Amino acid sequence: MNILGIETSCDETSVAILSDGELKANLISSQDFHVKYGGVVPELSSRAHLQLIIPLLKEALEKSHLTIEQLDLISATAGPGLIGALLVGLTFAKGLSFSLNKPFVPVDHIEGHIFSGFLMQWKPQFPYLCLVVSGGHTLLLLVKSDLEIIKLGTTIDDAAGEAFDKVGKLIGLGYPGGPKIQEEAAKCSSRDLINFPVAKTQNEYDFSFSGLKTAVLRFVQKEYSGKENIKEADIPKIAASFQNAVIKLLAKNVEKALQNFKVDSLVLAGGVAANKDLRNELSFISDKYKMKFVVPDLEFCGDNAAMIAYRGWKLHLAGKKFNYDYNAYPSLAGNKLIR
Ligand code: KG4
Ligand code: ZN
Repeated sequence: MNILGIETSCDETSVAILSDGELKANLISSQDFHVKYGGVVPELSSRAHLQLIIPLLKEALEKSHLTIEQLDLISATAGPGLIGALLVGLTFAKGLSFSLNKPFVPVDHIEGHIFSGFLMQWKPQFPYLCLVVSGGHTLLLLVKSDLEIIKLGTTIDDAAGEAFDKVGKLIGLGYPGGPKIQEEAAKCSSRDLINFPVAKTQNEYDFSFSGLKTAVLRFVQKEYSGKENIKEADIPKIAASFQNAVIKLLAKNVEKALQNFKVDSLVLAGGVAANKDLRNELSFISDKYKMKFVVPDLEFCGDNAAMIAYRGWKLHLAGKKFNYDYNAYPSLAGNKLIR
């Protein structure tokens, strides 16, 4: 069975083809021009998806040695994400499905990340604990099966990736902040880091990052009276202290959940899962609890259509049927599964 996956929820246009579980193509075109605006501009993102989607589909078919008629299932991200961007991929998928007379499967972007570990050779086993950390979401989930996902905790303010991006800007590193903060933090030789406080939450599995972001802002204002005056030599220490605080909070909640729920694996997913120090910390915790640790290769951490094709395939195998009334949705509230 040849499954087409389409992902256009934000600033990556991605098209993938999965044939009976084997990934034939996963093309990702990142819209780098947003960098000069300091963040993703929704309208520009939609237009770029429109321009990129057909060339990417052609290239994916060529790479897979398939014709368009040989596609058996058309899946695309329905949400959450930027509504205009989502509509490009979703509407394109509906049109293709109708013209080829092949089933259409809308896929939730977060579910894509949650099951992205299955794209690896080293696969998770149900039930597993999953930490999804991306630019828009931070979720700690108990994944019991393909169709049973329980939300243990979420962020009460900013998402983890959003905090990386905001702090990146705040200390003059530009957008996106995540990879740049990791790079700067790696240069920090000091062991005595700045103690940035992290807010407590009512639900023990929830997260809060906005106080941490404010603490960094206050520090920069107090010590340097503005980001323009930060000494270059101090940036690694600020980056490392912030990153350390984020990882400590994420790891603390993961560890608590591992103590309270019987699971077989721990999965780390989403764009922030690319962070080396976070990967190392959760790998260390998994060893401590004798847990299988699965984290996707970098190609599958950020937004990609391979995870959408995989999820579309599983939903189809589970007997799920969808019609063309299925609409794009901007927030996780539109998700029908995660409770
Ligand atoms: O999942 P993703 O590609 O898009 C969303 O669905 O949001 O995640 C993007 C986020 C951005 O906030 C980016 O700064 C962050 O992932 N990110 C990182 C790293 N690489 C990307 N954060 C920390 N460390 C990294 N190495
Ligand atoms: Zn994502």
